[in-house]
Amino acid sequence: EQHMSWDGQRLVKYKGFWFLVMIFRPMLFARKNFKAKDTDVIISTMSKSGTTWLKALTFSIANRDRFTIDQSPLLACNPHTVVPFLEYNLYWEQENPDLEDIPCPRIFATHMPFDFLPDSVHENGSRIIYIGRNPLDQFVSQRHFLLENKIGKEADHPLGVDEAFDMFCRGIHSWGPFWEHMHGYWNAHSENPRKVLFLKYEDLKEDITSQVKKIAEFMGFPFSLEEAKQGLIDQISGLCSFESLRNLAANKTGNNLNGLVKNSSFFRKGKVGDWTNYLTPAMAERVRKLMESKFEGSGLIFKI
Ligand code: A3P
Repeated sequence: EQHMSWDGQRLVKYKGFWFLVMIFRPMLFARKNFKAKDTDVIISTMSKSGTTWLKALTFSIANRDRFTIDQSPLLACNPHTVVPFLEYNLYWEQENPDLEDIPCPRIFATHMPFDFLPDSVHENGSRIIYIGRNPLDQFVSQRHFLLENKIGKEADHPLGVDEAFDMFCRGIHSWGPFWEHMHGYWNAHSENPRKVLFLKYEDLKEDITSQVKKIAEFMGFPFSLEEAKQGLIDQISGLCSFESLRNLAANKTGNNLNGLVKNSSFFRKGKVGDWTNYLTPAMAERVRKLMESKFEGSGLIFKI
């Protein structure tokens, strides 16, 4: 089954999820050929949910003995250069890239739904960190992002916000349905919290210090008392904050993800609740009802 997205991308439905046609082959290559190591960390997200932030944080946590904050590669390169996506970067051009020599712990990112992850990720000791975000802010963020970047578009006349929102609610968007994407990782986390950490964008916004500690513990690199006393947690949180990253020259210019995306477009507002500037209370009500029915009984909730 195929469908055009609201902004003119060709989508294909496979096993209940909608994928950008152009990403389908790299995703299948990654599923078939990626061999996870036990020490790997996989950042999984629905797009526009805090991927860039989580990449910067996990990279900084894992490499804090290799680089001091003022030598961090994040000062010179966009987080998406430092932590690549399996499907948008590594398996984009190559069916089976050689990833053996990347220093451990290797960190990779993906937007794949949980059931689609490569078998080796499911089977070995690697860990998965997922970050979810409330659907209304995710939709607004995604809309801005897609209007700004031409990612495989075949039509030049994007649909208006009402039609786009309706398609979002029906799950017809890249990596959608949103609900099933979140739910899949939430269930996996509930079943095996040592394998899957489930974070929320809003929680990171509310208390970054406790979330950074939690991420470090989950990754197997808890902060020592000494490190905490030296202020390392604050330094990492500060370096990876929206304001800090957005103002770096490396994030103001250039492109990423095979030239498809402007680096600057990964940093728009970085706020919780920006949806109120674009969407109506009736739209919010529709999403509230959808969340109730889709997440029913699971304990998963996003405040809106
Ligand atoms: P907005 O469009 O609402 O501003 P992703 O990284 O998954 O593509 O998500 C992008 C969203 O995260 C954008 O949201 C972006 O501004 C926000 N973002 C990027 N870096 C961030 C950071 N360091 N802290 C908080 N939000 C960040």
